[in-house]
Amino acid sequence: MGAFDDIESPRSPTIYSSMLGRGLGEARRRIVLICLIAFFLILTLVAFRRQDTIKDVVSKGLHRTTDATAPVATSDTKTDLKEDVSKPDPPKSEKTQTKPSTPPTSMKGPMLGNGERSLAPESLQDIHNSSLGFGKVFVLNVPARSDKLDAMKLTSSLTGFDFDIIEGINGKDVPKKALSGVWKESPGQGGIIGCWRGHMEFAGEVARRQLATAIVMEDDADWDVSFRSQLEYIALGSQTLLNTPKDTVPDSPYGDGWDLIWLGHCASQPDDGDNRRFVMKNDPTVTPLRHRTNYGGTPDMSPYDNSTRIMYFSKGSTCTYSYALSLHGARKMLKWLSMDIYSGPIDFGLHDMCSKKERGFKCLGVFPQIIADHKPAGAGNKDTDIGNGGDQIRKKGFSYNIVHSTRMNADVLTDGQMDKVTSQWPDETPNLKGPIITEFTNDLHPNTDDKMP
Ligand SMILES: *[C@@H]1O[C@H](CO)[C@@H](O)[C@H](O)[C@H]1NC(C)=O
Ligand SMILES: *[C@@H]1O[C@H](CO)[C@@H](O)[C@H](O)[C@H]1NC(C)=O
Repeated sequence: MGAFDDIESPRSPTIYSSMLGRGLGEARRRIVLICLIAFFLILTLVAFRRQDTIKDVVSKGLHRTTDATAPVATSDTKTDLKEDVSKPDPPKSEKTQTKPSTPPTSMKGPMLGNGERSLAPESLQDIHNSSLGFGKVFVLNVPARSDKLDAMKLTSSLTGFDFDIIEGINGKDVPKKALSGVWKESPGQGGIIGCWRGHMEFAGEVARRQLATAIVMEDDADWDVSFRSQLEYIALGSQTLLNTPKDTVPDSPYGDGWDLIWLGHCASQPDDGDNRRFVMKNDPTVTPLRHRTNYGGTPDMSPYDNSTRIMYFSKGSTCTYSYALSLHGARKMLKWLSMDIYSGPIDFGLHDMCSKKERGFKCLGVFPQIIADHKPAGAGNKDTDIGNGGDQIRKKGFSYNIVHSTRMNADVLTDGQMDKVTSQWPDETPNLKGPIITEFTNDLHPNTDDKMP
């Protein structure tokens, strides 16, 4: 009360009477104006509802097969992509209880070669569940960094998956006695120890909860808006590489018998002398050549064109933005990198396990990576949880290696404006027509002269 009492309410009778007091011409003009405004409003609404254009840009053949006789799932692709960024499937009860008798006909997965292999409907359905077809999704976050968690909550919600939080810890708070083996000096490497500890917590949770599989993401991870479609291809790839018998449905949609699948990294190498490759050609989500940022060895991509992604048996990667573990893999990690003597960065440790293959550790890699790190707009020193990441102010955020970044498109995705999704490198993102073509090869540089007629 008080200060505002004198202000005339807009509904005050004096205003109404003064409007009525104006001439008839004025009223007509007003009606015309109102009609015009209403007309433009309707036009705008209609335009907003046309959200399908981007699916042609982004999906371009995701979900289509190479088999010319197979139905080309144009409209299905649209439905599936919408799913990529909206709602998760409702939780499903135990797989053993409810084998879906008739899979949804709209769900068509990727196919290997000319129909040599495709995902079972059960696998496909699991990949679309709220834990991305893994037992659980975990996000690694230092509790004080609520800003990173907020962003992760938004983007995971847009992609339609749910996660559990693993609380990271600053390395300084890890007592020396809790370190693996014998550290010669005072570690003095807060970041390295904190990071090692966080990832050990992940392996620990997988083991403790007896999860058959789980995936972890660091809290600055980013992925393409067609993440789920990519995961279908990853699943087909790992089932293919693991030589899953065609008439069986593996327990995990990503196949059985692997220990680690390294999806988000900053460099990755295939096993020496192992030429087995799952090849995905014509993929619009492959990082343009000039924008591939890696800090270490990468696979020989010379046999392929610029829009090809591959999967392979891997001797390891660098950076741990995201990877999946099987229960078997998690147990080995606890033994190898905590109970045994290990004192180094976590990615080096996992790399060691992948390359030495002691105790039969089996790793799969993907290149270019489908998960990478995001650098948000704002103060540069936000990038890292320890120390100072830099004094500069970043006007615009960016993500390494991700074409249609979910973070960069979070605002348009929130409004369901799929037609406004943009590539980070619009000039170098090829306008691909036609399906993604998959193939399994065991020979990097085949001599075409040897081909039988
Ligand atoms: C998703 O599918 C995986 C693989 O079958 C399963 O382990 C997991 O429990 C499922 N998640 C949910 C939320 O149903
Ligand atoms: C691949 O990308 C490079 C670098 O952008 C370019 O020079 C080359 O022509 C591209 N190759 C094809 C086949 O488009």
